[in-house]
Amino acid sequence: MEHYFTNNNDLKSELKTISYQVESYEFLFLSDNGVFSKNKIDTGSKLLIETFLKQETRTHLEILDVGCGYGFLGVVSSVILDSQVDMCDVNKRALHLANLNLEKNKAKGSTILSNCYENIKKKYDIILTNPPIRAGKNIVLNILENAKKYLKEEGSLWFVIRKDQGAKSIAKILEKSAICTIVEKSKGFYIFQAKFS
Ligand SMILES: C[S@@+](CC[C@H](N)C(=O)[O-])C[C@H]1O[C@@H](n2cnc3c(N)ncnc32)[C@H](O)[C@@H]1O
Repeated sequence: MEHYFTNNNDLKSELKTISYQVESYEFLFLSDNGVFSKNKIDTGSKLLIETFLKQETRTHLEILDVGCGYGFLGVVSSVILDSQVDMCDVNKRALHLANLNLEKNKAKGSTILSNCYENIKKKYDIILTNPPIRAGKNIVLNILENAKKYLKEEGSLWFVIRKDQGAKSIAKILEKSAICTIVEKSKGFYIFQAKFS
């Protein structure tokens, strides 16, 4: 069975454009077959970015979007916070779209083909992720627990997980190495901020 995170060169391309508005900003995202939430911005991703932006007022940050898909989290945070974003994923089509979407929305950033943090070489102020639950718990925990190594001192990890996809049990595991706060709960999604000591 094909999942959105697998690379399938035979999958027919059918580019589409999705619009998204937040505050006074208008974004356009190119999407395609074979990527996560190809027809509309995911509700959990929207809740994550909107919750994060309510709290984060600094600009000129270095942000990492892990499992970026077509680049929604990275592009929006880069433009609104006038920040530099790196976006990584294992899905090459998603990365191609993320590159186009950086350009389309005049965001500052780059994309990196990377299984979790394998090709990530620096540290960031913020890591954002809507982790790939369907890729399995080990991958999700790899992304969440290893964020610590890629965050600057005082940096924090923001993530979204659905209540019915084990949000609380995953957070409980992360709490062994981080202070994990539920910042928002809505429509079955939990938004967490984790700070590592
Ligand atoms: C739930 S989607 C989120 C996509 C995008 N951030 C968004 O908010 O729309 C998770 C993403 O993680 C990617 N992914 C799956 N396994 C991965 C891995 N081992 N390392 C990095 N990214 C992975 C998938 O290809 C997918 O794009």
